[in-house]
Amino acid sequence: MKNLILAIILVSSSFGATGKDGEGIFKKRCMSCHTVGKGRMVGPDLKDVHTKYDQDKLYKWIRSSQTIIKGGDPEAIALYEEYFEVMMPDFDFLSDDELGSIIDYIEKQSIDPPPEIASIGAESNNSNAAKVPEVVNTLNSANKRKFVVDPHTSPVYFGAVLTIIFFGVVLWVLLNAIKAIAAEVTMLRNSNE
Ligand code: HEC
Repeated sequence: MKNLILAIILVSSSFGATGKDGEGIFKKRCMSCHTVGKGRMVGPDLKDVHTKYDQDKLYKWIRSSQTIIKGGDPEAIALYEEYFEVMMPDFDFLSDDELGSIIDYIEKQSIDPPPEIASIGAESNNSNAAKVPEVVNTLNSANKRKFVVDPHTSPVYFGAVLTIIFFGVVLWVLLNAIKAIAAEVTMLRNSNE
């Protein structure tokens, strides 16, 4: 029973823990040009970028890199030139909360990328788009492996626990029904004698 409660808590918390969804925003708005730890694409690899700038500059950069570049920041201009003067679009509509959650996500991915991805990033820092299918495959197999290693949070495990409990209840009901019938039979027998 403890396990069931635990499973319910685990399942509901993994659904509920979105809040400001940094991962979702990153995947929707940034991943077309950036990776975290998988090498450069259209834009730079954002691994550890939270340590490169202070929060104020980072937020300003994401909201409008062009403003910083046009402001004459030499570091920004160099980066802009390095990336063939591809303009990163402005994201001035993102709130501080949303930016914070994106940075949290980048920070988390920087510290703890799945090991296979870290090694691909290391050997292919310069080759980029061509590696994407490989990375996707690695991601898929990493996910599969996680599924095997940690079955306790999986829906299959949850389903199995529910099934076992269900059959337990059915057995208990059947047992009581048999007991009741047995009592009835004994009573009838006694009254017949
Ligand atoms: C259209 C492609 C594109 C998209 C989408 C994009 N970026 Fe960029 N980003 C770039 C390019 C190109 C650069 C390099 C410099 C420049 O041109 O501004 C860059 C640079 C950066 C830098 C500075 C990196 C460094 O090493 O100094 C940060 C931080 C950054 N982007 C964050 C983001 C975030 C967060 C998002 C999503 C909200 C995002 N970018 C979406 C193309 C993009």
